[in-house]
Amino acid sequence: MPLQLQTNATNALRSVKSYFKDFGISLTDAEDTFMYVLDITLEELLLGNHQLTNSNKRKIQEIVARRIKGEPTAYIIGQKFFWNHFFKVTKDTLIPRPETEILVAAVLEKIRKNKSSKKIKVLDLGTGSGCILISILKALKKDSYEVSGIGIDISSGAIDVAKYNAGNLDLSDDEIKFLCCDWNDLLKYIQNEKFDIIVGNPPYIPSNDISKLEVGVKDFEPHTALDGSDDGLECYRQIISVLSGMDIIHSIIAFEFGIGQSNAIISIMSGIGDFKVINDFANIQRIIISK
Ligand SMILES: C[S@@+](CC[C@H](N)C(=O)[O-])C[C@H]1O[C@@H](n2cnc3c(N)ncnc32)[C@H](O)[C@@H]1O
Repeated sequence: MPLQLQTNATNALRSVKSYFKDFGISLTDAEDTFMYVLDITLEELLLGNHQLTNSNKRKIQEIVARRIKGEPTAYIIGQKFFWNHFFKVTKDTLIPRPETEILVAAVLEKIRKNKSSKKIKVLDLGTGSGCILISILKALKKDSYEVSGIGIDISSGAIDVAKYNAGNLDLSDDEIKFLCCDWNDLLKYIQNEKFDIIVGNPPYIPSNDISKLEVGVKDFEPHTALDGSDDGLECYRQIISVLSGMDIIHSIIAFEFGIGQSNAIISIMSGIGDFKVINDFANIQRIIISK
C-alpha cells in the first residue's frame, strides 16, 4: 500500500518527511523529491502554496517506495544539488556530498584573497560528475576570471556525465576539457602544464570497510569512487607521486579525505608543500589545502 498523500504539497511533504524519519532517511531527501517532481526550487517549495496532481502523487509514491528500499534519491531522480547547481548523477558517478562543498568554498576563498592574475587554470583529479571543477569554474567566471579546467577520471561513464553537466551548465569546450585516464598516467597527457588550482576528492574508504557502509552507498555507488585500498590512502600516494613530477610551486592544492586520516594525509602531502586542515560541518577534519 503506497504512502497516502494529500493534494496540498506542504501537507504531503510533511507526511513524506515523517515517513522518511521512521526509516532514518534524511529529510532533505523528501525536499529533493518534491523539488524534482514539481520542478521548483527549494524556496518555491517551502514558501509556495502548491497542489499535487494525481500524476505528481504517483511519481512521489514511486520514488518513496524505491528510497525506503535503500536506493539513494539522487540516483532515482538522476540529479543532486551541489554548491549552486543541479548535477546529473548516474550509477557511474559518486553522489556529490555536502562536505565536498567545503573544499569548493575553501579554494574560492583562497583564490579571491591571493590571486592577482585574472586567468585561472584548474585540474580536478577524479572528477566524477564534475561537481568540484564545474562549481569552481562557474563561480570564478561569475567573478570575471578567465577560466579553464581539466577534469580527469578513470571511469568513461563518469566522464560522459561530467561532460553533460559542463555543457548543461554553459561551460564551453575552451573552458573545460575532460580526459578519461588513470591519474598515474597523467604526465603522458599534460606535460609541462601548470595549474593555479589542483583539487580532488579521491576514493578514501579502506577496502575492508566498504561492506560496512550503509546500503545506499555500498550497493549503489561505484566502488571505483570509494575504494582507497587497504588503508584508504593509496590514491593520495599515487597523486602526490604524479604531482611531484609537475611544476606546482604556485598551485593551490586541495583534497578531501576521510575520517581519522588527517595525520596520515598531512604526512603524505608534506613532501610537496605546506598545508593546513579544515573541518567539515560536523567538525570532522576533512579538507587539506595549501597554506
Ligand atoms: C570519491 S569520487 C569523487 C567524485 C567527485 N570529484 C566528487 O567529489 O563527487 C573519486 C573519483 O575518482 C575516480 N578515480 C578512482 N581511481 C582513479 C584513478 N586511478 N585515476 C583517475 N580517476 C580515478 C573515480 O572513478 C571517481 O569518479
